[in-house]
Amino acid sequence: MPAAEMHSEVSISGKRSFNGELSVPGDKSISHRALLISALSSGTSTVKGLSTGRDVMATRAVIAQLGAEVRSLGDLLAIEGGPDRLSPPNSVLDVGNSGTLIRLGAGMVAGLGGTYTFSGDESVNKRPMKRIFNPLRQMGATIDAADNGETAPFTLRSYGLHGIRYSLPVASAQVKSSILLAGLGASGTTTVIETMPTRSHSEEMLAEAGAKLEIVRLPDRKEISIQRSSLKPMDYVVPGDPSQSAFWIVAALISRDSQVTVRNIYLGELRSDFISVLVRMGADITVANTSKNSGDVTAKSSQLRSTTIAAEEIAGLIDEIPILCVAASFAEGVTTITGASELRVKESDRISVMSSALRSFGVEVEEFPDGMAVTGGSCMHSGNVFAHMDHRIAMACSVLAAAVSGTTIITGFDTVDSSYPEFLADFERLTKS
Ligand code: S3P
Repeated sequence: MPAAEMHSEVSISGKRSFNGELSVPGDKSISHRALLISALSSGTSTVKGLSTGRDVMATRAVIAQLGAEVRSLGDLLAIEGGPDRLSPPNSVLDVGNSGTLIRLGAGMVAGLGGTYTFSGDESVNKRPMKRIFNPLRQMGATIDAADNGETAPFTLRSYGLHGIRYSLPVASAQVKSSILLAGLGASGTTTVIETMPTRSHSEEMLAEAGAKLEIVRLPDRKEISIQRSSLKPMDYVVPGDPSQSAFWIVAALISRDSQVTVRNIYLGELRSDFISVLVRMGADITVANTSKNSGDVTAKSSQLRSTTIAAEEIAGLIDEIPILCVAASFAEGVTTITGASELRVKESDRISVMSSALRSFGVEVEEFPDGMAVTGGSCMHSGNVFAHMDHRIAMACSVLAAAVSGTTIITGFDTVDSSYPEFLADFERLTKS
């Protein structure tokens, strides 16, 4: 079948304004963890506000395959879990497009013990897995993997893990979380050392669920130690996903006569740094109704200026770089991003894919091995984009397409469903004048 028939296409006409208020799906990182931790907790947990994306639905299916009972109760999901209910299934655990599920799921089942096979879609099966294989093997698991032991599909066997002390070689919350979940079922103490801080949902949520977990913050590192623990059921309320809100915030900033409010989004550590970056670019953004770690964010049309995004900022912006590149395309001057080589191993190679997408809109881009330089304000026009099975590329380019003149075709748009199935409906509603 020719490529064009296999991929969904969406055409987006430009020169639009964005106005209105909305809620975005529940945070994806918190949703995955709420389901996995509930599956491990003896008793009934509930989750409210779960992400509606396909990735989180894959996690729901995986925990059910392992033996958790998952029921919808109105707007709640009830999960009956606990290690006694869980056992290795006879079939493959299919993670779809989700890198978070495959890495966290592998750690979780390694801690439970038994033999498990994981696989995902074409994008996931290309992503590097040695980053979790190495520590899980050191803890005692055996892993046979495709592509010379580098990628999924893989089969993991675990018959009793022991704790390790492990310094993360890459700044990755997924790797940290995989080891912590394995550590929950390991003998002795498992310590993960982080020199570059990453999102802290796993350690926070595991501690709330009663894990024996200790955090030591030192000037140059954070050490998280976990011991074999029983978890208690919880009632989780998932706030809106800041990474999804970033698309509407940037849409309002770069489009004329625009003002958008995104309600109740998670604003905790290392998840809302894109707001500070946009503010230093001159964005008119206000945050209101803050409670705990969430709040409402309003953005208005703004004249942006370029900025420099340094290596130490990347972990806090990792999912927002594609949409920040769109903001940079409208900012006066050259925005430089460095220290971001991790972007090359996301759902797509986001440095290369985003550079070609921006060039198709007439944006001047220089690509580096670990980042890019985007010249703003160049002569932009409609573009032509292939999403490469990467939801964030499709959504970032939709926002850019809406701000320039002409009609842009985005091929492979349905990848958006992995995190934000309502994206197109929200886009149409906000741009209806
Ligand atoms: C995530 C961590 C990040 C992020 C991903 C979600 C998580 O990945 O890009 O979308 O939920 O832990 P890395 O930890 O690989 O950087």
